[in-house]
Amino acid sequence: MSYDLLVNGVKHSVDVDGDIPLLWIIRDSIGLTGTKFGCGIAMCGACTVHVDGVPMRSCVLPVAEAVSKQITTIEAIGKTEAGARVQKAWLDIDVVQCGYCQSGQIMSAAALLATNPSPADEDIDAVMAGNICRCGTYPRIRAAIKLAAEAR
Ligand code: FES
Ligand code: FES
Repeated sequence: MSYDLLVNGVKHSVDVDGDIPLLWIIRDSIGLTGTKFGCGIAMCGACTVHVDGVPMRSCVLPVAEAVSKQITTIEAIGKTEAGARVQKAWLDIDVVQCGYCQSGQIMSAAALLATNPSPADEDIDAVMAGNICRCGTYPRIRAAIKLAAEAR
């Protein structure tokens, strides 16, 4: 069946089964490979994208449920006000190690700041707890989120 998706402001028509996870449409059909596959069971956060501004685990979101919604991936998060601040802070603090989890981390952080401009430590910990980093960049992630919040 054909589905119309709006990804980063661009319309894409894909002819796939409706229960295929959005992650694979983004990566394989559309070719945006910044969104990563980690666990496939909504446990690691590597596949996080925004759907109508809400962070979602695209590895478990059927493509049929994303039709007619605004999907934003890491490739376009820098065009949002909060996303631009988060990406700058990530570079200033030099958060990244291997980098694999970082697309998802940035997507979650940008969604946090878009809804909570001055998050407390516990707010950051609660939102970011679903994004796993096996390199252990958590202290720098928290510092970068605070720096991004102060940059308003
Ligand atoms: S790949 Fe989606 S949460 Fe891990
Ligand atoms: S930077 Fe390597 S897994 Fe997070």
